[in-house]
Amino acid sequence: LKKITTGKDDKGLKLYDPGYFNTAPVRSSISYIDGDEGILRYRGYPIEELAENCTFLEVAYLLIYGNLPSQRQLADLEFEVSQHSAVPQGLLDIIQSMPQDAHPSGAFGQYIYKSKQVRDKQIFRILGQAPTIAANAFLRTSGKPPVLPSNNFSYAENVLYMLDSMGNKSYKPNPRLARVLDIIFILHAEHEMNCSTAAARHLASSGVDVYAAISGAVGALYGPLHGGATDAVSKMLSEIGTVENIPDFIQCVKNKKRRLSGFGHRVYKTYDPRAKVVRKLAYEVFSIVGKDPLIEVAAALEKAALSDEYFVKRKLYPNVDFYSGLVYRAMGIPPQFIAVPRMAGYLAHWLESLDDPDTKIMRPQQVYTGVWLRHYAPVK
Ligand code: ACO
Repeated sequence: LKKITTGKDDKGLKLYDPGYFNTAPVRSSISYIDGDEGILRYRGYPIEELAENCTFLEVAYLLIYGNLPSQRQLADLEFEVSQHSAVPQGLLDIIQSMPQDAHPSGAFGQYIYKSKQVRDKQIFRILGQAPTIAANAFLRTSGKPPVLPSNNFSYAENVLYMLDSMGNKSYKPNPRLARVLDIIFILHAEHEMNCSTAAARHLASSGVDVYAAISGAVGALYGPLHGGATDAVSKMLSEIGTVENIPDFIQCVKNKKRRLSGFGHRVYKTYDPRAKVVRKLAYEVFSIVGKDPLIEVAAALEKAALSDEYFVKRKLYPNVDFYSGLVYRAMGIPPQFIAVPRMAGYLAHWLESLDDPDTKIMRPQQVYTGVWLRHYAPVK
């Protein structure tokens, strides 16, 4: 590539690249995807191995600091995160002042905290407080009183505690459900240069503090084409209702009146490896809390789409959100909770951008299509 403009008569080379499709604005060593082969690795580890063997905070450590933690390092992180899980009363007051019908993701945008310029402290706070904010925003929009986290519980257990206990101190989270939630958190923790992470890096490139960068990312995350698909899938399956309605719905999608939420991906042109794990988890959750009849609709919809020429030709497969919505619903967890584990990925990218000597303020070009030159004429 040459300079954009080298002289008066040389307007240089510009790439017209909608959505940055072919543009890699950063170099990153955090996660790797091979969309054709259905591969996702965090720092070199296959996602399936991490989901099988790790806790969410172990994976958060891996993403943020580059290697899996020792037992001591993990214990320290668990301690610090739990010590930082309370939020200031002022923030709870802001949540309480939200209208009850506000979108819970909006609560993150309210969160502007003065940076202390201590990276680790910011990491502990964001990891620690994210579940507290998300849970209390949801409790608020459900008309329930706030519940603060307890230091007796693991990260995932605390989420169940805050959402389900109504503040009852003798509440004991189901350990199997907590483990499922932890695995889902691992799967949702990081996904290289996705829309919201790209937004976080874009904002961070201007030098804003990490809270502002993450607030912007969460704003991007809850769109229905991105993380909001978790919610959209649940609504779509409820709308379809029964297996008999699937052919009509598929026809509607093929006529381009609707999109099949939870299907298709910018990068994966085969089955999203995370979706396979979440599908298994869905059955695990149903074996504990009872079956959601919509799982039959989901399975039949998947089968119908995967054998339909429209989807096959376009390489549209289930993505991570296809079954996540059902799992979250069955566990009584609002779908917007996917923002919580993604904090680990955002933080990893924020740190990486701070340390990367090549970090530049992000400022894409445009292809100008307007009037070339005209002169003012007084109004007649
Ligand atoms: N349902 C029906 N058709 C689809 C779908 C879908 N879910 N996704 C893509 N297509 C079709 C498009 O209509 C288009 O068809 P055409 O060639 O006849 O015009 C073709 O497939 C390519 O689609 P694009 O929109 O160009 O694909 P892109 O890579 O830009 O979009 C996206 C990716 C946004 C994820 C898309 O597949 C989609 O809207 N999926 C549904 C929403 C969803 O599940 N999002 C979650 C993604 S995972 C995540 O962010 C956590």
